[in-house]
Amino acid sequence: MPVEVRPYGSDDLRPFLVAAEIPFAYAVRDEYVRDHERILERDRLLCAYDGDAIVGTAAALSLRLTVPGAEVAAAGVTEVGVIPSHRRRGILTSMMTRLLADVRARGEPVAVLWASEAAIYPRFGYGLATMDASFDLPGAARALRPAPEPGGHVRLVDVAEAGGLLPRVFEAARTARPGFVTRTAAWWELHVLREREQDREGPEPTFTAVHEGEDGPEGYVRYRMRHAWETHGHENVLEVRELIAATGRAERALWRFALEMDLVGRIRARHQPADSPLLLLLSEPRRLGFTLGDGLFVRLVDVAGALSGRRYAAAGSVVLDVADAGAPWNEGRWRLAVSGDVRASSEPSLRGVVERTDDAADIALDVTDLGCCYLGGFTFGELVRAGRAVEGRPGAVHRADALFAVDRAPWCPEEF
Ligand SMILES: CC(C)(COP(=O)(O)OP(=O)(O)OC[C@H]1O[C@@H](n2cnc3c(N)ncnc32)[C@H](O)[C@@H]1OP(=O)(O)O)[C@@H](O)C(=O)NCCC(=O)NCCS
Repeated sequence: MPVEVRPYGSDDLRPFLVAAEIPFAYAVRDEYVRDHERILERDRLLCAYDGDAIVGTAAALSLRLTVPGAEVAAAGVTEVGVIPSHRRRGILTSMMTRLLADVRARGEPVAVLWASEAAIYPRFGYGLATMDASFDLPGAARALRPAPEPGGHVRLVDVAEAGGLLPRVFEAARTARPGFVTRTAAWWELHVLREREQDREGPEPTFTAVHEGEDGPEGYVRYRMRHAWETHGHENVLEVRELIAATGRAERALWRFALEMDLVGRIRARHQPADSPLLLLLSEPRRLGFTLGDGLFVRLVDVAGALSGRRYAAAGSVVLDVADAGAPWNEGRWRLAVSGDVRASSEPSLRGVVERTDDAADIALDVTDLGCCYLGGFTFGELVRAGRAVEGRPGAVHRADALFAVDRAPWCPEEF
């Protein structure tokens, strides 16, 4: 019997989740099912069925993705898996084809995801769009170069108060930085604010501190201490779970707050931006142990819609010749024409008109690689140097990079 991909057809979410967790070898507890009933969207669950058995799963979340100067609707692809007995038979390929058609039908110009392994998704048109940093700083090397700044203060808050303050800060930060995606109220409650007795990562409580200025909260840090008391003293590890700031001074003050805490032997953080201010704040940036990996992958489902959905940093035009084996409607030459005067703002503000053209291509590339440049995470120059794009006319790459330039590295601070 052939495997068939179709929407999940039951009201009971458990069988879907059980199948989705088999490829990761995780158990599915009652609490996990209850949580997912509030996070997953019932009409966006796909399954591959072998007879009645679910052998593959995929889901999409209806998100908003911040793009340079604007935001667009995005499908957040998640819960992707094929059970081990059915791997490498083309089941993921069938699910991705169906998902792409569904996303297009909904009018979402992009799909986004985090990959368990970076090699899986480029073949389906997903390009690496943000880098994801982590660090592991010895406490002995946490000296900061600039002196503390006046203005604002840092205050610890309990979960109830955090529930009111943090989403406001997050919204201000989210809309200012490409790569962020929206959080629902359920996501805040279940994935951010809730304290579990024991989760996958350990029992230590998470503390929240906010930085407040004259007009209210500007940033927050959520952290916990991994305790390790040894005979010679402590070797505690401070884990910064999330530090989000809407202003530069809040970001600096919160890092100072975290780094200068007592009884800390090491400070670790994951999911940090590639342009972390710590590289310039620390006296010894080498000791940060800064590591870069792949972050968010972006698939341009509708090239014209996606390119006209973001803003640009300079006026000018460029003709892109796009190859897209998975989405023939995207294939061919597109002219992006950007006009207007650059506003005195730090983020790209000019609109672009995207139309089909018969003109010669300035740059030829695959849609996967256009996804790498979409949020500003990589430049066309970098693609050409890596052999992943071809410049058709001298100077075209320079022109395109001026249009697509961003003032901050795109960053997605969490996995979904
Ligand atoms: C990753 C996974 C979903 C792939 O499913 P699948 O049905 O085996 O994939 P397909 O058979 O459709 O493979 C399509 C192509 O991708 C390749 N591919 C699939 N998984 C890959 C991987 N992990 N690394 C590299 N290539 C991979 C296949 O070799 C195949 O290539 P080919 O067309 O050149 O032969 C499945 O192996 C799985 O569930 N893994 C564990 C859970 C996981 O990592 N899920 C993804 C979460 S983001």
